[in-house]
Amino acid sequence: MDGARPIIVAVTGASGAPYGVRLLQALVEAEQPVSLILSSHGLRLIQTETSLGSVAGLRAHLGAAAWDRWVTLYDDADRGAGPASGSHRARAMVVCPCSMGTLAAIAAGTSRSLVERAADVTLKERRPLVLVTRETPLSSIHLENMLRVTHAGAVVMPAAPGFYHKPTRIEDLVDFMVARVLDHLGVENALAPRWGEPT
Ligand SMILES: Cc1cc2nc3c(=O)[nH]c(=O)nc-3n(C[C@H](O)[C@H](O)[C@H](O)COP(=O)(O)O)c2cc1C
Repeated sequence: MDGARPIIVAVTGASGAPYGVRLLQALVEAEQPVSLILSSHGLRLIQTETSLGSVAGLRAHLGAAAWDRWVTLYDDADRGAGPASGSHRARAMVVCPCSMGTLAAIAAGTSRSLVERAADVTLKERRPLVLVTRETPLSSIHLENMLRVTHAGAVVMPAAPGFYHKPTRIEDLVDFMVARVLDHLGVENALAPRWGEPT
């Protein structure tokens, strides 16, 4: 059953760690199994941009019992871990946030880390791959890499929240993005108001 198959979540070193943390929280609350990979700079940005100082802090933030039940953490240096194989029973992968470095590696198929390899596998298996990219402005290299991964089947979702729901808190902007990501992953959510629907 789809609901029992994990979603691979990678957090890499682009600004926007709160998106990744909120996405993890929403997936755990929705009782979705998660195969989690943190790049070294993904963890660094969590430490820089949130109040969480470590993986233990992230676990406590999500709730230790929920983490233990729904989250399996993999070492980004271990290219032999489960998500490195097409036989890993993942149903989709999301990189949130996705650095330009990781975007480039995925576009080139280099597979030099577990995040890169898992994304490469996700594309070859024709499973959904969502990349929540963040950089500004964008060079032609960034734009060409976005086009390349799009042609390969990925969905590029730049971290660019809308304002038509009149956000008043940073959390409103974060939830707007995370709601759109969850929609693409096929996870029911009511994190943000939907245009044309009563709030
Ligand atoms: C505070 C900080 C903010 C950064 N913000 C971005 C960013 O918004 N976008 C980006 O592509 N890289 C950003 N970087 C650079 C990446 O972290 C760096 O290129 C890193 O090697 C990416 O590796 P990873 O994709 O394996 O995490 C930032 C780095 C730091 C320390």
